[in-house]
Amino acid sequence: MEKTIDEKVQGNSLVLKPQPSNSKKLFIESYGCAMNFSDSEIVASILAKEGFNTTQNLEEADLVLVNTCSIREKAEQTVRKRLEKYNAVKRINPGMKVGVLGCMAERLKSKFLEEEKIVDLVVGPDAYKDLPNLINEVEAGRDAINVILSKEETYGDISPVRLQSNGVSAFVSITRGCDNMCTFCVVPFTRGRERSRDPQSIVEEVNDLAAKGYKEVTLLGQNVDSYLWYGGGMKKDFKDATEIQKATATNFASLLRLVAEAQPKMRFRFSTSNPQDMTLDVIEMMLQYRNICNYIHLPVQSGSNRILKAMNRLHTREEYFTLIDNIKEMIPDCGISHDIITGFPTETEEDHQDTISLLEYVKYNFGYMFTYSERPGTLAERKLEDDVPEEVKKRRLQEIVDLQQKHSKYRTKQYIGKTVEVLIEKESKKSAEQFSGRSEQNIVVVFPKENYKIGDFVLVKVNECTSATLIGEGIGLSNNN
Ligand code: 5AD
Ligand code: SF4
Repeated sequence: MEKTIDEKVQGNSLVLKPQPSNSKKLFIESYGCAMNFSDSEIVASILAKEGFNTTQNLEEADLVLVNTCSIREKAEQTVRKRLEKYNAVKRINPGMKVGVLGCMAERLKSKFLEEEKIVDLVVGPDAYKDLPNLINEVEAGRDAINVILSKEETYGDISPVRLQSNGVSAFVSITRGCDNMCTFCVVPFTRGRERSRDPQSIVEEVNDLAAKGYKEVTLLGQNVDSYLWYGGGMKKDFKDATEIQKATATNFASLLRLVAEAQPKMRFRFSTSNPQDMTLDVIEMMLQYRNICNYIHLPVQSGSNRILKAMNRLHTREEYFTLIDNIKEMIPDCGISHDIITGFPTETEEDHQDTISLLEYVKYNFGYMFTYSERPGTLAERKLEDDVPEEVKKRRLQEIVDLQQKHSKYRTKQYIGKTVEVLIEKESKKSAEQFSGRSEQNIVVVFPKENYKIGDFVLVKVNECTSATLIGEGIGLSNNN
C-alpha cells in the first residue's frame, strides 16, 4: 500500500506547530506506506487534545511512538533497530514511554510486551481513538495494548493535523483495509477488512485543505477502485444492504466526480489501483475532469499467468493487457507505474521471462520492484515453500530494474520539446536556483525559479531529461492558478 514505499521519507518524524497549553512532548516517527504517514497525522491530532506537543528531539520526549510496517522483513528489521535506539535513550530518561503503532503492532500483538518487554504500549491501526485511555494506563505504570481490528473505523471524524512539509500536496485516506487476499501479502491481517469512508467527510477534508492553500490531494487506500460507500460497514457486506442503500451508494468513479467538482482548481491523484477492480468509468472520469491527473499506479506483481494465479491476483496477463490498451486508447498520455515482485515461490526462468515481456509490452513510466519476502501467517507462507534462492531473486530483480530504467528513459524522452503543467512543491535538492514539482503523469520536473513560487501551476517547456526527471524552463503560469 501504496501504499507505495517512498524510501526518502522512511523514518521521518512528524512535527507540528506547538500549542502553548500543551506540556507533554511526543516524538512520532513513521515507516512504510503513505497510509501510515497519514495515520500518524491522525494520531498526532488525537494526542494534541491530550496535552502533547510534537518534538524532533528524541531525548526530550515523554512519549515515543513508532508507526510501523510489516510488508517485508526488512521493514520490520528497520523498526527493531529503532526500538533498540529508543531503549538506549530510555536508560538515560527512565520516565520516557515507548509505543508501537501500525502493522507490526497488529502482527505481533502482545509479543512485544510479554516476551520482548521492549515497549510500554502496543496499538493496532484501528485503535488510535483508544490512545488517550491506553496512555493513562501506561502513565499509571501498566502495560497497555489494543489491537482490535474494526468493521467500521475510518477516522472520518478526525481532522488530521498536517505534516507541514510543503503545504501544497496532502494525502486523504478514503478506504482502510483490504479484502483482496493476495497470497504474499500481510496487509489483510494487519489492516483488516476493507471499509470505505463517508464521501461527505472526504469532501469536507478536501475543502478544508483547499481553504488552507493546498493544491493537490492524493486519495489513499490499499485498493481505491474498490471504494464503496453505502452508509458504512464492510465492503463484503454490501450484498446484504437494503435496496435504497444499493441505489444511493457511492462508488470510486462517483467519488472522483464529487471531489473534482468540489474543488475544480485542485489536482487529484489516487493510489493504489488494483487491475481487477479498476473499471472504465474511472478512466472516463479522468477524461472528463482535467483536474484528475492522468496517472495510474497499477501494480501487476508478475507477468506469468501461473504465478498470478498462485498469488491469487484474480486477473490474467491478457486481462491486464486489455486494461492497459483501454487506458492508452482513452488517455494516450496517461502515466502508468507498477509494483513487481521477483522470486515468488516456484517462479521459474520462464515465468520471469513472462514478467520481462509484460514490461516490454507496457513500457511503464516507472515502478517499484522488490524481491519476495516471506511473511508469517500469509497463505503463501503456509502453503508454499520459499524456494527461489536469494541470489536468483536478486538477479531477476536487477534484470527488471535495468529494463525499467530503459523504459523510464524512453518515456521521459517523449516529453523533450513538449510543454507540461507542473505544480511547484519545493526547491530542487540539487540546486537552490531551481524548483521541483511533478507533471500530471507524476514525473518529477525541475526548472529555474525565476519569479515563480511554491504552489504555482507553471507551464514548463522540457529541454532535457534523465530516466526519472524532466529538465526545462517555465514559460508562464498555467490558467489553473
Ligand atoms: N514480499 C515482497 N514484496 C511485497 N509486497 C507486498 N508484499 C510483499 C512481500 N511479501 C510489495 C507488492 C505490493 C507493494 C506495496 O509491496 O509489490 O504491491
Ligand atoms: Fe502500509 Fe502496513 Fe502494508 Fe506496510 S504493511 S505497506 S504499513 S499497510
